[in-house]
Parts: sequence; structure tokens; C-alpha cells
Amino acid sequence: MDHASRPWRSVLYIPGANPRALEKARSLDADAIIFDLEDAVAPAEKPAARATLLQALGGDYGGRARLVRVNALDTPWGADDVAAFAGAAVEGLLLPKVTGPAALDALAAQAPGRRLWAMLETPAGVLNAAAIAAHPALDGLVMGTNDLAKDLGCRSLPGRAPLLPALGLCLLAARAAGKIIVDGVYNAFRDPEGLAAECAQGRDLGFDGKTLIHPDQIATANAAFAPDAAELDLARRQIAAVAEAQAEGRGVAVLDGRIVETLHVEAARRLLARAEAIARRAGAAA
Ligand code: COA
Ligand code: MG
Repeated sequence: MDHASRPWRSVLYIPGANPRALEKARSLDADAIIFDLEDAVAPAEKPAARATLLQALGGDYGGRARLVRVNALDTPWGADDVAAFAGAAVEGLLLPKVTGPAALDALAAQAPGRRLWAMLETPAGVLNAAAIAAHPALDGLVMGTNDLAKDLGCRSLPGRAPLLPALGLCLLAARAAGKIIVDGVYNAFRDPEGLAAECAQGRDLGFDGKTLIHPDQIATANAAFAPDAAELDLARRQIAAVAEAQAEGRGVAVLDGRIVETLHVEAARRLLARAEAIARRAGAAA
């Protein structure tokens, strides 16, 4: 299954050195997992985390997409991470702190043929988002809002006003290149209302889903980023209304007091395809 026909609503980080969490993830309802070798693993634990994670990846993760977040190539661990996972059973390698396409060229040279993902979490990375998103080996972008907020020196506010220019630029870059883009994490993992509000904001902005740090956050993200029954009903009626108008030789249909054109049909078909992808993933992840 290619990345575009998968759902990316809930993308859970799991520290690569935590065997209990690695095991638990086999039955969690997450669309995707980021197995982390970077910030969730202390320097002294890096070699052990590699071995623990390689062993876990030999087992079954159902229909969940698997990404390994390696350390950046300018760290003492990056090259060994890439060598260890270049042939692992995962859908892609996620590179942190990408500031431009050259970092992806370097990773592609060390892991030929692998699909790549990039974290956008530095001011330079955000400003170069278009070139990063257009990289031919790249499938998707992941917002690193904690690192970005640190580098910007901005405040962490409900509604994320200080981050909106960066989130918008990265979204533009992803969509211009036809790539997946997943929102940053919500740190307060025991605050479901705050999480729901931030998921709704990310969905309304256009993100495909949200990165998560705790299993309790999965259901909220899955609900927020899935099309709901009313949206699916409207999509089906829009497709039918335009088909009927075209059959009668009219280019524009009217539905519920609004015009419906071919562009709406395109969006409606995309919505239905997303619902199908979600159903497929849930079926495969049993
Ligand atoms: N993935 C899978 N399982 C997880 C998990 C995760 N990210 N986080 C917690 N769990 C598991 C725990 O192992 C525990 O399992 P158990 O019931 O079988 O023992 C269960 O979920 C409940 O965990 P809980 O006690 O509520 O949380 P905690 O105090 O153990 O851990 C964190 C809290 C934040 C430290 C932990 O969730 C975590 O490490 N998250 C990932 C952080 C990360 O990857 N950061 C880097 C990217 S920002
Ligand atoms: Mg980071």
C-alpha cells in the first residue's frame, strides 16, 4: 500500500528503547507509528535502542505504517542508525531537523531506494519547506512544533497564534508537492479537551493527522481527522448532483442552496477515498 492510500490521522511516537511500549503498539488503534531513536532515547541508550527496535520490527504491526526516526547525520549516531535500518521492515525513515534538501540527498545516498520523511522543526527548515517537500525520495513532512517554538523564542499559547505562519508555510509546501503532512504533538497528554481543540485546529488547517506521544491520545486524533457521517453524506450527494446535472447538459448543479462544480466532486471523491483508507487500515490492524 502506498503512503497516499493510507490514513495518517494518528501517528504515535514510541521510544525505540522501550520494549513494553513497542509490544503494546501492536494492538493500539494508531494509523502509524514513529519508532524513535532521536530525542526519546538518551545518548547512553542509543546502541541498545537500535537492537531492541530491530528485534521488535521483526514482529507484526498489522496495517499500521512504520517510520523510524533516525538521528541526524551530523550527530555521532546518525550513520549507524541509517546503516542498521536501511533494510528494516518499515515504510520509511524520518530525518529530524531537516534544514534543506541537501540533508535528504545525504540520507538517500546512505539508504538508496528507501522512502524518506522529514521533520520541519527549525526556522531554516520552514523557510526551505518547498524545496524539502519537492524532494523525489520524500513521502511526507512531520511538524516538530516543540523544537520550532524553542528556536523561534515564541510562547506556547492555546490557539498557537505564534506558530500559525510556520504551520501555514509548511502546509503550502506539502500540498504544492502532493505530499502528506502531519501536525506536531500536544504535550499535555492528560488533557483530552486541549488535545481535541488542537486536533480540530490542525484538521481545519488541512493537516492529514497529528503526531502523538501517548496511547490515550489516539482516539481523539482518529475522530478529529476522520470524515464524519454528515461530510460523507454530503460528498455522496454532491457527486450524484453533478452527475445528474451533467446528464442533463448543465455544468453546474445546485445542492442545499449552494452551487456544486467539478472541483467539489474532486474533493468529495478524496473524502470518500480517505474513509475507505481508514476502514482498510482498521481491518488490517486487528
Ligand atoms: N507508545 C506506546 N505505549 C506507550 C507510550 C507510547 N508512546 N507511552 C506510554 N505507553 C504505555 C506505557 O508503557 C504503559 O503501558 P502498560 O500499561 O502496559 O504499562 C501505558 O501506555 C500507560 O502509560 P502511562 O503510565 O500513562 O505513561 P508513562 O508515565 O509510562 O509515560 C511518557 C508517559 C510521556 C513518558 C510516555 O508516554 C512516552 O515516552 N511517550 C513518548 C515520548 C516520545 O516519544 N517523545 C519523542 C517525540 S516528541
Ligand atoms: Mg524535535
